Amino acid sequence: MNYLSEYVDIADQVITEIFDPVATESIANAYSLLSEGKLVAFPTETVYGLGANGLDPLAVEKIFLAKGRPSDNPLILHVASLDQALPLWQVNPQELQLARKLADIFWPGPLSLVLPSSDRVPSLVTAGLDSVAVRAPANAVARKLLNACPFPLAAPSANLSGRPSPTRAEHVTTTLDGRIAAILDGGPTEIGIESTVLDIRKAQPRLLRPGSLSRPALEAVIGKIIQSFDSTEPSPGLRHNHYQPRGVKLRLVNSEAIKAAWSQSNSILCRQTTGNRLGSRSGPLLLLPDSASDFAAALYNAFYSLEDLGVELCLIEQVPKSPEWRAIQDRLERATAD
Ligand code: TXA
Ligand code: MG
Repeated sequence: MNYLSEYVDIADQVITEIFDPVATESIANAYSLLSEGKLVAFPTETVYGLGANGLDPLAVEKIFLAKGRPSDNPLILHVASLDQALPLWQVNPQELQLARKLADIFWPGPLSLVLPSSDRVPSLVTAGLDSVAVRAPANAVARKLLNACPFPLAAPSANLSGRPSPTRAEHVTTTLDGRIAAILDGGPTEIGIESTVLDIRKAQPRLLRPGSLSRPALEAVIGKIIQSFDSTEPSPGLRHNHYQPRGVKLRLVNSEAIKAAWSQSNSILCRQTTGNRLGSRSGPLLLLPDSASDFAAALYNAFYSLEDLGVELCLIEQVPKSPEWRAIQDRLERATAD
């Protein structure tokens, strides 16, 4: 279509502005670009999102173009509150009750709720599905921006498709500079791993993507959840390659293999205690914190560091198999998949 080729031409010449969210005019400037149908990256508590007016199909189309995102991968709509989410869904009383219960406890926060979409939602957002994922992020800059916008923001992670999600504004620049109108630089994100995606359309809720909100935390509130991200019917986005640093081959290995490789020249990414136990080494070494939450916050920055170091191969130590590590394990498995 015509507007697409126009955008591609323009996209090559875009100068990506960096806004400091502390400056009073930044939110107004970001809103103004978004209302013109342009793309603005913004921090959330999980990772940076690439925002567009989620009710404007032309703006949403630009997200897919800027990221090189496969068109079968639906987007999450970001809202300021449950009140802003309700018109985006077409729910029955049971679904409404469950959504309210979860939003009361976990919103704003890293939980995306999948429910039947209303006809206000463009089909580009849902990739043609009859459901839509919505979440209210907790990050203060994201909340200010959403409060300034009279529309929801469609926002995937703000990276070229296939690369690691950005946890700092610099990571957004690395893959999207010149392809988007602006970045609100809110510093490093707190959580570092994407939201949990939960389908609550059926009596038995289904976990479509493990995320920073753990399954036990959700089950404590709504009872048993079916884990469907490793089934034959995963969330559409999970079919595609993810989280892979450019030019770096990642391999997930056990502690024995890390020990065996310690005296070799390959780069290694492992937990602090493992590094302390094995001592110094000559090859590149990235040590990540021992707690799951701190490890998550540092992970994608470590992936982008590997790109900067120009290493060809990096061995990554397996993480523990407990629930708080589940989402990290999922990201490591996907990052190391061929
Ligand atoms: O933390 C996050 O969720 C971040 C920040 C920016 O909010 N966003 C994010 O978006 O990770 P993205 O596009 O990178 O991942 C969205 C995931 C994909 O796996 C997609 O398939 C799934 O959510 N998803 C979106 N809508 C869906 C739907 N209607 N049904 C099933 N899965 C859906
Ligand atoms: Mg993503």
